[in-house]
Amino acid sequence: MMLKSKVAVIYGAGGAIGGAVARAFAREGAKLFLTGHRRAPVEAIAKDIVAGGGSAEAAEVNALDEPAVDKHLQSVMDQAGRVDISFNAVGIPDTKIVGVPLVELNVEQFSLPITAYATSYFLTARLAARRMVANKSRRQICAQYASQTPQ
Ligand SMILES: NC(=O)c1ccc[n+]([C@@H]2O[C@H](COP(=O)([O-])OP(=O)(O)OC[C@H]3O[C@@H](n4cnc5c(N)ncnc54)[C@H](OP(=O)(O)O)[C@@H]3O)[C@@H](O)[C@H]2O)c1
Repeated sequence: MMLKSKVAVIYGAGGAIGGAVARAFAREGAKLFLTGHRRAPVEAIAKDIVAGGGSAEAAEVNALDEPAVDKHLQSVMDQAGRVDISFNAVGIPDTKIVGVPLVELNVEQFSLPITAYATSYFLTARLAARRMVANKSRRQICAQYASQTPQ
């Protein structure tokens, strides 16, 4: 169990990648705090993990909302005493962008994924890093950066 006793926070845990990572982390023994835009899909994954003997809690957190991310991380600290891993798997809805011909794309549509992903990665990494530095878990910050590799 590579992650036994590690505390992991996952953003976008109700999505395909977030859910798969949550299940993999659970199999490795991590204590999970799963978050997402909407609570229901995140809760379904948390229930599944708990039914399989793992540890997972679900919360509704908008990963673009700095006070909401900060408040949630503080609640994790209050409950678990530490944060070791922050994994951002949010997928910004692109229904208004995909398929739009370049000649018709406006600046707002062009900028949305760039600003939204960069902002969310920055916020979740920095706010987790502040807690990680305190408990000397800086190594895991790299996992967050790895999840930001452009497609
Ligand atoms: N699937 C692939 O093959 C693949 C490969 C490489 C990289 N990626 C990248 O990995 C990321 C996730 O992909 P995916 O396939 O798992 O996408 P997905 O199934 O659409 O899941 C994205 C999740 O992000 C959540 N979300 C969206 N905005 C959010 C916000 N502001 N705060 C919190 N949660 C938010 C969504 O919640 P709601 O549904 O509640 O809105 C959804 O649960 C994307 O950036 C994608 O580009 C995907």
